[in-house]
Amino acid sequence: MKGPSLSVGGGKRTLAGRAYSTEGMVKRGFDLRLMGRLLGYLRPYVPWVFLTLVLILVASTTRQAGPYITKIAVDDHIVPGVSDGFGFLIAVYIGLLFVQFVVGYGQGWATNMIGQWAMRDVRLDMFGHLQKLPLQYFDRTPIGRLMAMNTNDVDALNEMFTDGVVSVINDLLTVVAILAYIFYMDVELGVVTCVALPVASVATVWLQTKSFEAYRVARVIFGRFAATLQETISGIEVVQLFGAEKRSADRFEEDNDSYLQARMKSTLYHSMYFPFMELSGILLMGLMLYSGGSKVMNGEIEWGVLVALLQYVPRFFMPIRDIADRFNTIQTALASSERIFELLDTDTEPPSGTHQPEAVRGEIEFRDVWFAYNDDGGEPEWVLRGVSFKVDPGDSLAIVGATGAGKSTIINLVCGFYPIQKGSVLVDGVDIREWDSEELRRRVGVVQQDVFLFAGDIEENISLGAPEVARERVLQAAHDVNADRFIDRLPKGYEQEVNERGSSLSVGQRQLLSFARALAADPDVLVLDEATSNVDTETEVWIQEAVEKLMTERTSIVIAHRLSTIRNADKILVMHHGEIREEGRHEDLLEARGIYHRLHQLQYQE
Ligand SMILES: Nc1ncnc2c1ncn2[C@@H]1O[C@H](COP(=O)(O)OP(=O)(O)O)[C@@H](O)[C@H]1O
Ligand SMILES: [Mg+2]
Repeated sequence: MKGPSLSVGGGKRTLAGRAYSTEGMVKRGFDLRLMGRLLGYLRPYVPWVFLTLVLILVASTTRQAGPYITKIAVDDHIVPGVSDGFGFLIAVYIGLLFVQFVVGYGQGWATNMIGQWAMRDVRLDMFGHLQKLPLQYFDRTPIGRLMAMNTNDVDALNEMFTDGVVSVINDLLTVVAILAYIFYMDVELGVVTCVALPVASVATVWLQTKSFEAYRVARVIFGRFAATLQETISGIEVVQLFGAEKRSADRFEEDNDSYLQARMKSTLYHSMYFPFMELSGILLMGLMLYSGGSKVMNGEIEWGVLVALLQYVPRFFMPIRDIADRFNTIQTALASSERIFELLDTDTEPPSGTHQPEAVRGEIEFRDVWFAYNDDGGEPEWVLRGVSFKVDPGDSLAIVGATGAGKSTIINLVCGFYPIQKGSVLVDGVDIREWDSEELRRRVGVVQQDVFLFAGDIEENISLGAPEVARERVLQAAHDVNADRFIDRLPKGYEQEVNERGSSLSVGQRQLLSFARALAADPDVLVLDEATSNVDTETEVWIQEAVEKLMTERTSIVIAHRLSTIRNADKILVMHHGEIREEGRHEDLLEARGIYHRLHQLQYQE
């Protein structure tokens, strides 16, 4: 049986033109620049970081004092039979345990808080940046990946700090503290202990490189896995409708298997490493018993030293073993942070212009616009080819044409969502590149075929465009588009919760909400992109009424399949393959007996 391949083909997915892959990670090893940038997130919390370091230092020295105290107990009290001060020594021992508890508690708390604070900052940065990214980025990046980045990757960073960096420092200090105590008791035995260091280190580095490689592959597969899952869940209706469960399940199974294989590989290394380290521990113990024991017999050291040594040896290997794991955590987090920084470094929308007029008349003009969505240096696939038209303020423009002709693209360009390659788009005679893009989009109210509802109540979903809109505006808008007819019938009216998929509302109701939403923002230009394609006839009549009201006082662009809805438009554009083929009023176009005439005939026959 051929197992699923473990290779992680990077480079296929592109992120803002650059190849996206985690491949470079291991080869580059420990990226100090990346580390530095990450540590930058700790800057606001430097006093806390400093406190943590001091606490770690105190914790590791007190923790390792225990065996040394037993040495004093054995040599100064038990062996010579001196009970004087013995009680005090035990009290010190217990006192130290108490200090350890308090310090450990404080250190754990501080470390975790710093981690949480820093993660909050990272998440804020990411979300802030994500919202400013051009739509092109989202065209290319699966949502599942973005979700994974915002959750798994950020968590990995947190772990890196709390479980990774801090623990490594802790472990290193523990090793140093143990060695210091042993050297202090007997230099020769200290040297013997040091012999174990290279053995343990080599084994640790070996595990670290081997298992991390496997683990990294697992992470990448996991990302793909998450994307598949996300896609299936969001598209569950389609999956079930079309009986695509098998296909989804196959894909899931394949990814699931690759994930298993990758995890097995890293498990294999782990299950070799830990017994090996245990064996090394036992060997060191034997060595200690032998050399320490001989020294006791020769009277070179006291009994207590051997007692202490035998406690130190098992403690010595634990931190070294842990460091191997910590490095995995750190490197995983570095891979995560690379993804996060790649996101943060993706160019946001080019800085928009500053044009922010007091009032907008609503004149829209396209001058010989050529546009292609693919803008990565390859051969442009023109979606618009030399499109020119002009809509006067207050006029209505209708666009008709087959699916894929480029109608919605025109809307995208009016809103300045994509940079155009040639020509210019002007609003009120000003190139949209000079417009403040936020202002521009605020002035343009778009109602689309697919309505996106956010989690929240009806009122929030209407006022969305402008959070400052008053309740009265929301009510008025709902009334004007006849949405209040169904809202008033809802059990909780405007406070009725809807969910993001809006499944609690019918398509027509959602559409009415989106009309209210557009109106509440009081746009100067109203755009309807096949806004009535999905609704039933009754709702359409309601909407038709509303739309006429909405269109009277503002410039409007209407894209519609049903020609009946557009016969009154001041101008109609007929688009075909990204070009304007015909242009004029309903009657003129019919007379011309071209494409529009044919479309009209087809619908008339229906
Ligand atoms: N975000 C996008 N990325 C890449 N290509 C797109 C995108 N949106 C639309 N297209 C392509 O552009 C062409 C025109 O699409 P569109 O303007 O949506 O057509 P219409 O609205 O007339 O049906 C289609 O070939 C479509 O595949
Ligand atoms: Mg469209």
